[in-house]
Amino acid sequence: MNEHTRKRVAVLISGRGSNMTALIDAAKEPSYSAEIALVVSNNPDAAGLGRARAAGIVTATIDHRPFGKDREAFEHALHRVLEAHHIDLICLAGFMRLLTAAFTSAWQGRIINIHPALLPAFRGLDTHARALAAGAATHGATVHFVVPEMDAGPIIAQAAVPVLAGDTPETLAARVLRVEHEIYPAALRALAEGRVAIGTMKKPPV
Ligand code: GRF
Repeated sequence: MNEHTRKRVAVLISGRGSNMTALIDAAKEPSYSAEIALVVSNNPDAAGLGRARAAGIVTATIDHRPFGKDREAFEHALHRVLEAHHIDLICLAGFMRLLTAAFTSAWQGRIINIHPALLPAFRGLDTHARALAAGAATHGATVHFVVPEMDAGPIIAQAAVPVLAGDTPETLAARVLRVEHEIYPAALRALAEGRVAIGTMKKPPV
C-alpha cells in the first residue's frame, strides 16, 4: 500500500505494550492500511517505549505527573504531539489515563481502545478477577470506539475465550491477551479502510 494512503496511527500506552507490538507487527505487512507513526506514553518507565524504539518507531513521553489534576493541560500537550506527527487515528493500548469528553469528542470516530472483557460485561479494571468471581463460562476482549463514557463506545470487534477450571486471573489474562493480539490489528485495519465508522449508518435500500 502506498505510504501516502496509509493512515498514520499513534498508539498510546502506559505499560508493557504487547498490544502495541501486535499492531506494529501487523503494520509491517505492506498491504496493511495503517502505519504506526508514533507511540506515546504518559509513563516514562513504560516497558513498551523500549519495545517501540527497538522496532524503529518514533516515541514520545508526556509524563502526566507535572500536570497534576489538570487533565486539559496534559491533553493539550498530547494534542500538540499528535498534530506534529500528522496523526489520523489513535489506538489506546493499555493507556491508563482517563481522557476528557473534550478530547474524546474531538477525536470521535478516530480513537479506539482494547478492553480485556466482553463488553458490555465488566467495564473498568480487574476484569479477569471479576469474571472469575462472577463464575463466567466465557470471557474475552473487545475493541471499541472511544466515547466520553468509559468502555461504552460502539463495538468494532470481539473475541471470546473459555474460562477453564482452575483458572487464576493470570492464566485467564494470558488466554485473553492472545486473542487481543489478533482482534486489535484486525479492528484497526477495518477502521483504516473505512469499513467501520461511528454515525454513518445509512438507511438500507428499500
Ligand atoms: C491489555 O489487557 C488491554 O486489554 C488493557 O490493558 C492491557 C494492556 O496490555 N487495556 P499491553 O500493555 O498491551 O501488553
